[in-house]
Amino acid sequence: MAALLVGVLAGCREDGPQDAADYGEALFQSSTLSSSEYNSFSCATCHATTAQAPAGRIDSGHTLYNVAARPDWWGGSETRLLDAVNVCYVNFMRGVTKLGPDEPRSRALYEYLSRISPDAQAPALPFTVVKDIQDVPRGDATRGEAVYRAACQNCHGATHTGEGRLTTFASVLPEVTRTYDEAFPGIPHAQVVIEKVRHGPFFGVGGTMPLYGKEALSDADLGALLTYLGL
Ligand code: HEC
Ligand code: HEC
Repeated sequence: MAALLVGVLAGCREDGPQDAADYGEALFQSSTLSSSEYNSFSCATCHATTAQAPAGRIDSGHTLYNVAARPDWWGGSETRLLDAVNVCYVNFMRGVTKLGPDEPRSRALYEYLSRISPDAQAPALPFTVVKDIQDVPRGDATRGEAVYRAACQNCHGATHTGEGRLTTFASVLPEVTRTYDEAFPGIPHAQVVIEKVRHGPFFGVGGTMPLYGKEALSDADLGALLTYLGL
């Protein structure tokens, strides 16, 4: 036992925090972090890591710049960083068991997230889930197209064909709504789409698509997007 411990500690010394952070960055960018054959997402699919998200990118998740310094996460509902990560890992990436606190992968992710968190006083970020699903005023189609490209296209690919989509699980938009009369009789198609975008896999609706809180996507952008999709 003692010999084993010495071996483990020696191993830790060899891979210093710098190596661990590099390994963590590689894990962050890889969909193989989750061993599920149904997963195509990496952490980087939904999170930028720069102070401001790059132009032309609307993500469901906040940038993770300064994430390790925030006092809490998920709008205050998570108070441990690893728990906040595991919400994503289990719900969106189909990780079967949570990442454990002592796993090398968790430590490496932590070193990486710490490296991109230079401001010790960084505040928590707001996250507001839209509770009641209501119709939204429609907007401008050109703006809606820009929203589609920034928010949806990476996963769903081109409208009408799905060309270039990240995974074939991501339905072709808006064509998939043709199935909604049967699947959701009496409910306007746009309302099903709003429900999906606002609640993702939560509230009893299945799947792995992330939910968009108010801070991630405004009702105005959602309305423009619906116009662009012809809904
Ligand atoms: C499919 C999209 C998606 C994937 C993949 C994903 N996340 Fe998230 N993540 C979200 C959303 C949506 C939120 C909630 C909004 C927010 O707080 O950023 C979130 C929240 C978080 C938060 C809390 C941020 C805060 O300040 O409240 C952390 C930490 C986090 N994710 C880390 C990760 C890590 C690490 C991975 C990879 C293991 C990952 N996420 C994968 C979508 C995703
Ligand atoms: C991180 C990848 C990802 C992003 C970003 C994303 N989706 Fe999805 N979406 C999926 C996946 C995967 C599915 C199928 C699994 C599921 O239902 O969650 C899906 C399902 C859907 C569905 C339900 C289709 C059905 O079968 O009824 C709708 C509607 C939808 N997405 C709309 C959107 C819109 C609009 C956007 C942009 C605001 C968007 N999605 C962004 C991955 C994504």
